[in-house]
Amino acid sequence: MTFEHDLKATVRTIPDYPKPGILFRDITTLLGEPRAFRRAVDQLVDPWAGSKIDKVAGIEARGFILGGAVAHQVSAGFVPIRKKGKLPHTTVRIAYSLEYGIDEMEMHADAIKPGERVILVDDLIATGGTAEGAVKLLRQIGADVVAACFIIDLPDLGGAAKLRAMDVPVRTLMAFE
Ligand code: PRP
Ligand code: ADE
Repeated sequence: MTFEHDLKATVRTIPDYPKPGILFRDITTLLGEPRAFRRAVDQLVDPWAGSKIDKVAGIEARGFILGGAVAHQVSAGFVPIRKKGKLPHTTVRIAYSLEYGIDEMEMHADAIKPGERVILVDDLIATGGTAEGAVKLLRQIGADVVAACFIIDLPDLGGAAKLRAMDVPVRTLMAFE
């Protein structure tokens, strides 16, 4: 059994959530399997083993779980990118759209120093609207976005290609239609 097949089998699919027609790829089942969770985190950061990473930015909410583990793994700080209205200090904010809606996200304006090397982490990339917004926020405050890492890619929705067109190297561990 290949690594991808093994890990992929731990992802649960929920039809018509949160809206009719959406096949929701649920990673809580992967997170609940100790071996799968560890392997996913190890594999996500494998290309950057030994390189200096200052911060890992994780996107609310599922990106927090993975981003915290990844930050620990690469000995970096962790920066939360949150849905609007949740952060207490001065923020930068951006509107974005995703596969099933629109929203606004923000981060603390002083969370990253200009030139710091940052890896962006989330569980899944679909249309790429969320990750694109996050990269724009990070770059707005001067971050050097070294890479964006996701467990799941939905390539038919074009998100990874959109990020690569912004000169962001993209790492994903598995794909679903
Ligand atoms: C999901 C997922 C990504 C985003 C991807 O988050 O965790 O952040 O959608 O979609 P996109 O590539 O089309 O932008 P969601 O907004 O559902 O938030 P949650 O993690 O709080 O459930
Ligand atoms: N975010 C955007 N599209 C998604 C999907 N199909 N499953 C889980 N999270 C998502």
